[in-house]
Amino acid sequence: MKKYFISSLLAFSTLFASAQGEVTIKTYPQQANQKISKHIYGHFAEHLGTCIYGGLWVGENSSIPNEKGYRKDVLEALKKLQIPNLRWPGGCFADEYHWMDGIGAKESRPKMVNNNWGGTIEDNSFGTHEFLNLCEILDCEPYISGNVGSGSVEEMAKWVEYMTSDGDSPMANLRRSNGRDKAWDVKFFGVGNESWGCGGNMRPEYYADLYRRYSTYCRDYDDNRLFKIASGASDYDYNWTEVLMKNIGHRMSGLSVHYYTITEWGEGKKGSAIDFTNDEYYWIIGKCLEIEEVLTKHMDIMDKYDKDKRIGLMVDEWGTWFNEEPGTIRGHLYQQNSMRDAFVAALSLNIFNKYGDRIQMANIAQLANVLQSMVLTKDDKMTLTPTYHVFEMYKAHQDATHIPIDLTSDTREIRGRNINTVSASVSQKGDAVNLTLTNIDLETDRKIVIDLPNPKAKNVNGRILTSKNITDHNTFEQPNLVKPEVFKDAKIRNGKLELTIPAKSILALEVQ
Ligand code: AHR
Repeated sequence: MKKYFISSLLAFSTLFASAQGEVTIKTYPQQANQKISKHIYGHFAEHLGTCIYGGLWVGENSSIPNEKGYRKDVLEALKKLQIPNLRWPGGCFADEYHWMDGIGAKESRPKMVNNNWGGTIEDNSFGTHEFLNLCEILDCEPYISGNVGSGSVEEMAKWVEYMTSDGDSPMANLRRSNGRDKAWDVKFFGVGNESWGCGGNMRPEYYADLYRRYSTYCRDYDDNRLFKIASGASDYDYNWTEVLMKNIGHRMSGLSVHYYTITEWGEGKKGSAIDFTNDEYYWIIGKCLEIEEVLTKHMDIMDKYDKDKRIGLMVDEWGTWFNEEPGTIRGHLYQQNSMRDAFVAALSLNIFNKYGDRIQMANIAQLANVLQSMVLTKDDKMTLTPTYHVFEMYKAHQDATHIPIDLTSDTREIRGRNINTVSASVSQKGDAVNLTLTNIDLETDRKIVIDLPNPKAKNVNGRILTSKNITDHNTFEQPNLVKPEVFKDAKIRNGKLELTIPAKSILALEVQ
């Protein structure tokens, strides 16, 4: 009976979806007054599973081709993304990490147990130098997560001094003795992570006081100016944001929030990353889009205490979280990545782009081999995920001016809400207007007409990411099943861009 009800409902919503008309997008370039911070396109690499060891770092003596210990294939792929910032060393790992264990001669670095993630032995061969040098190679800003949960104020203060002081100070001299003369540029500094959970199970009032204490001793050395980020709420915990805004206020430059697209927390309850039904696909899309309402509620609270929007909202962990792939090590969070993940990335980025007045950073979790990753590696093999391709296609939005839009589309009912089948984001950099568009519908194409903000434009270049099945994904054997192709079906006519976006596809267009 229940089954019959669900399939009737599905048939109805499919019918409803196919009864769609033309999608229209009006653009308002006169109202464009916000930049899309490039830091919204940020990343996260934790000492978790094979994200660092095997994914990014193999060591100089490895038979896997490497540049000073970093995998060459991964470096090359990441450079194409123009990564703006990279968060490290966690995550939960950050609140058990003691940075002094990760400096000096590799053979004398102490080992530890990675209690959060499968009890793996961490040999500390990838530490502060290895991370900050990687950021220099990738030309991205480091974002360090400091240890509040199990570390001392002194330990945190000394870490900042070690990384950023150029003077004749004890920690700067220790750094020099370890082979690095010049201080690194470190701007983003997180004072704890998930302090309500793995970062110490604190109450917000207690954490707010600790934040004030720890952050006092994170000094600005020489010309370095730290952008201090407080450990923020988990998705729907609005009280955490309220208490921190009230009690920390402008002592923080940023406040984080974490939101994962997840079916249900708990061992084995999160569903498979690649073996799912159409129903499960739409459910995940609905859950992903709920982030907009969650962020808006946090931003409303921030507005109450910070009318001038001086404090940034940093979505420093987001993305899909599915069951670990069968046969992989428990606690390593290794998951595959399908066209569905590409949609979660594209829809989330379209949302973040809209709120540039408050959202100053976002970091998808995580860079390699963990959760919604950019690359998957196995021994000397690497494959790019569908999510990687979205980040690559969307990079034109980085630091561009956001153009407000009005989008009229048919909707589909998902998780009790009417969701537009088409989503879009528009930005401008110089003469180029960049548009990213998604059609979440699995069956029906959509005709779209867009009022161009640059009506005299003559040329349009486009790329499309789509695949036969929504469950399609790349593997080491078939690494190019899901990859962008040239899209030629967009035409400029009388100052308008006209195109048909195929079912289940993501488009990136540049109009000039
Ligand atoms: O990204 C995986 C984990 O998710 C992080 O370590 C933690 O901050 C969050 O709970």
